[in-house]
Formats: sequence, C-alpha cells, structure tokens
Amino acid sequence: MSIRTTSDQWWKNGVVYCLDVETFLDGDGDGVGDLAGLADRIDYLAGIGVTTLWLMPFYPTPDRDDGYDITDFLNVDGRLGDLGQFVEVVRTAHDRGLRVIIDLVVNHTSTEHPWFQSARSDPASRHRDWYVWSEDKPDDGEMTETFPGEQGGLWTYDRKAKQYYLHRFYAHQPDLNIANPAVRDEIARIVGFWMQLGVSGFRVDAVPFLIETEGITGAPEVDPHRYLKELRAFISRRKGEAILLGEVNLAPEEQRAFFGDEDGDELHLVFNFTVMQSIYLAMARQDAGPVEEAMRSLPPVPFDSQWATFLRNHDELTLDKLADDERQEVFDAFGPEPDMQLFGRGLRRRLPPMLDGDVDRLKMAYSLLFSLPGTPVLFYGEEIGMGENLAADEREAVRTPMQWSDEPGAGFSTADPEGFPNPIPEGEYGPLAVNVVDQRRDPESLLNWFERLIRRRRETPELGLGCSKVVDNDVPAVLAHRCDWDGATVIALHNFAPEPCRVRIRLDAEEDGDADAVALQDLLDGGYHEIDDPSEVTLELDRYGYRWLRLLRRGQRRMP
Ligand code: GLC
Repeated sequence: MSIRTTSDQWWKNGVVYCLDVETFLDGDGDGVGDLAGLADRIDYLAGIGVTTLWLMPFYPTPDRDDGYDITDFLNVDGRLGDLGQFVEVVRTAHDRGLRVIIDLVVNHTSTEHPWFQSARSDPASRHRDWYVWSEDKPDDGEMTETFPGEQGGLWTYDRKAKQYYLHRFYAHQPDLNIANPAVRDEIARIVGFWMQLGVSGFRVDAVPFLIETEGITGAPEVDPHRYLKELRAFISRRKGEAILLGEVNLAPEEQRAFFGDEDGDELHLVFNFTVMQSIYLAMARQDAGPVEEAMRSLPPVPFDSQWATFLRNHDELTLDKLADDERQEVFDAFGPEPDMQLFGRGLRRRLPPMLDGDVDRLKMAYSLLFSLPGTPVLFYGEEIGMGENLAADEREAVRTPMQWSDEPGAGFSTADPEGFPNPIPEGEYGPLAVNVVDQRRDPESLLNWFERLIRRRRETPELGLGCSKVVDNDVPAVLAHRCDWDGATVIALHNFAPEPCRVRIRLDAEEDGDADAVALQDLLDGGYHEIDDPSEVTLELDRYGYRWLRLLRRGQRRMP
C-alpha cells in the first residue's frame, strides 16, 4: 500500500477529537478547565489513538455563546491560560504524534470586541466598515435566523451607531464585512499567527455565512468562493500541511462547491451533515435505506478533499435536512420530550442515552461512523459513553465536564462543582457510573473498544482514502458498502435491527477486480471466511452486528 499517500494526506486517514479546553481538565483548581490541564491529558489522547485535536474557541470572550463570541483573535482567554501554555500544549501534542487544529470564528465578533466598540462609537473609525451596517432595516431577503426565536431577527439597531447591523447569529455577534479587504487581511494575519504557533489548520465556523456578501451595501459583485480560494492559497503557502475543515450545513450538491474546483482549492474537509442525519433516521426505522440513499447522493470529491463524518458535536443534533415527518420519527425514537428538543430541528442529547444505553447498538453506530467514506470526528466523552445533562441550558446540555473518575467533581476539578462551566450529570450517566479510570481497568469497556476500533481504522486506509460505494444485499436492515483503494478492498456490514440475520452479497463484479477474491478476513474479530462462490457470499450478523471485512485476492496476505 502506498504509505507515501497515507502520511501525505494525513487528514484523510486520521481521527479527529474535538474538545473544549474549558470543560476538559482543570489544572489549577479554580473550577474551569484550562490549557495546563489539557497538556496533562495529551498522553491520554495519544493513547486512545486519535491523530488530531480540534480545540473549540479558547480566545478572550464574554462567553455568551460558549466562546464563539470573541473579543481578541490573537490571544487566550485568561481563565484558560496564556499563549505560553498554548504553545506547550501544541508542542507536547506534536511530541506525541498529534496535530492540533483550532476553531476559526471570523464570520462575526462579540459586540464587546474593541473593533465593534470603535465602529459603533465613531463613524470615522477605521473599523466602521469592518461590520455590515444599514441606515434602514433591510429586508431579510434569502437570509433566515440561525437560532429561531433566540436572536431577535437578523438586523439590530445600535443606538450609538444610529444604524442597523447584520448578525447571522445572536445579536451580540455582529457579522464582519468580508467584502472589506482590510477584514480579509486581518483574517490572514490571524491564521498566520496561529500557524506560526504550530497549529495544523482550522475548523472554520459557519463557512457559508462567512463568505456570503448578501446584505452588504456596495459589496463588489465577485464570486464569494474567490475569498475561500484566497484563504486556502494563503494557508498552503505558509504551511503545506495546514488544512481547512469547514462547517457547511448544506445539501451535498451545494457542499461540493466548498471543496473548490476540480483540484480542490478551497476546504480540505467538509462535515457530512446529510449522512449524519440519515444514520439517525435509519436507526429510528431499523432500516438501512436512508443511509444508502444519503451515500448515493454524495458527489465525488477532489483528490485532496474528504468528508468529515460525525455522530454528535457540541451543538444540537440538527435534523434540519430531514423532511418534517422524518424528523418527527427521529424525535419520537430518540428525544420525545420537548425539553430534549431545540430550535424545532434538533436534539440536545448525547448518543448513549438516546439509545437507552444499548451498547450493541452504540457500537454499531460508531463502527459505521468509522467505516464510512470520510474522516471520523469524535466529541470529547464519546469514547466513554457520556450522557447529557438536560438541567443545563440549551446546547450546554452536551458540554458538561469530562468525566475522568468517580471522585467529587468527576476528577475534572478539585473545586466546588457549583462553579463548574456546566453541571455534571447524575445517575446512570454520571461520573459514578461512567468515567475514564474505571473503563481503563476493564478490557471490555467502551473506552478499550474505542481504542481497538481507532487502531484498526488507522490501519485500514481503504476507508479514508478509497472510493466507496453501496453494495446491494438482501436484508433491508443491513447496510453493506465497500471501499477500494490501491488494489485493496474493505467491505463493511452494519445491521440496524435488533435481530441477528444472514445477509447475502455478490462479489463477482469484474470492474471491481473481484474475480480473484478467495477469502474475507474480519478485521474486527479476526475471523476468516473462504469464498466458494463470489456471486453469493453469505455472512452472519448479530443483533446490531457490524463487520469490517478485507477482501483477500489470490496471493494477498492476511493483516496482523
Ligand atoms: C457554529 C458553532 C456554534 C456557534 C455558531 C456561532 O454554528 O458550531 O456553536 O454558536 O457557529 O459562532
């Protein structure tokens, strides 16, 4: 296999781990997680085998949107540490073979950012045009509220400026004017700064809103994607390995544009919201159909590009791409109480409680995530099966402190839990039942299962680098797909139903080079199945069973 490619396009064969410094580990005992705490747990992260850390915003902030409201893009929030500690985190991560990417949130600033304060107070300020103003309240046009009912429209009147300003998110997050070359220069300075401190790229927040110029009076008539190409070219000039991982919650055909032209000259990775939502519908229906359909709807992506796959993230589990009745099916199955739902489109829950703690089903879901075309992204705590705390506000329900041990404060902090960023869950998913220390000692724990899965995923580059397609089979609850790369093939099977089954697939397609197939090696349980008749291969799956099978062709050896 081409080792050259796997190390070259590192973002395609990695596993990303997203965490919020504030809720990960408190190193100084003040009740808030910090960079010193994170530095201490880099060995833990390297140990589970993830390859890339994505740090959620850690910049100075009034914290009205969990740090996505920034007052200084070139600094660290004093509660979390300082730039020196940031460098220590990155250096330690590199030493342990991990890369670090960080959130780039430049669609907007906080209203408390000095740029906005100067812009609103002084019409002659050089920052006035850094935001999007209007004398009269404009029509919303094509734009809609991102947090329906929570942000008071898209335009808010500022008494000092005596004008309206645009905000695609909360009213305390005024949009920056991306059409202004000075703003673009400043963004380049910001990304240049962090790359110089060692980061390997950015998770770019709200990309479609960032590049859009709607609502900007006098914006030049240019293709908004030109800006994304400029940004990509800039980061690549400064640092060849740097990547852009974009939040683009659009339909696949529209997402394709954000990878750029044929050569892929915009985002390297784009979150796959469509496949993610289809998995929940498939689980609710116990029918693989929705995932098959979603996978078939994906356009081919350029050579350097890839999907980023995920089951949960720090926001509500958005189900906005499903039809109303489909969304209702998922609500009924996984979040029937109104308090579990948010913005009329999503669930503020983590996966294990949604599945009533059914570990077989949970493992099936993650096995699927790791075998789908794309780079899997985990949200901290998923590896131990943490649950949400509905007593926390809105999206905060899934942003509770990492559960390290059964000590008071979950081993997250020695301070009084009253002062924690969010309250720790109690009961079935609380730290007495779910924590790292206990799971490390238990070879059968979810944590150890994840370690094995991640290791296998990294050893199976067909999944991240190959080309993937759905394979027909005769059981509606089963998804079969294959990934072909560099003369190698992996076939994955996932059973969405609680009943065991026998499933039949065909492996005789000449165009796939299957004629020489002699056996299937099970990469997860070590099993070995000889193929007698490639036109009819029958395999067994347990309830919510899953298998990753490497096709062995004549002359090919088994994997260790
Ligand atoms: C993105 C983030 C979300 C944040 C919003 C505004 O959607 O994922 O958490 O609230 O942008 O920055």
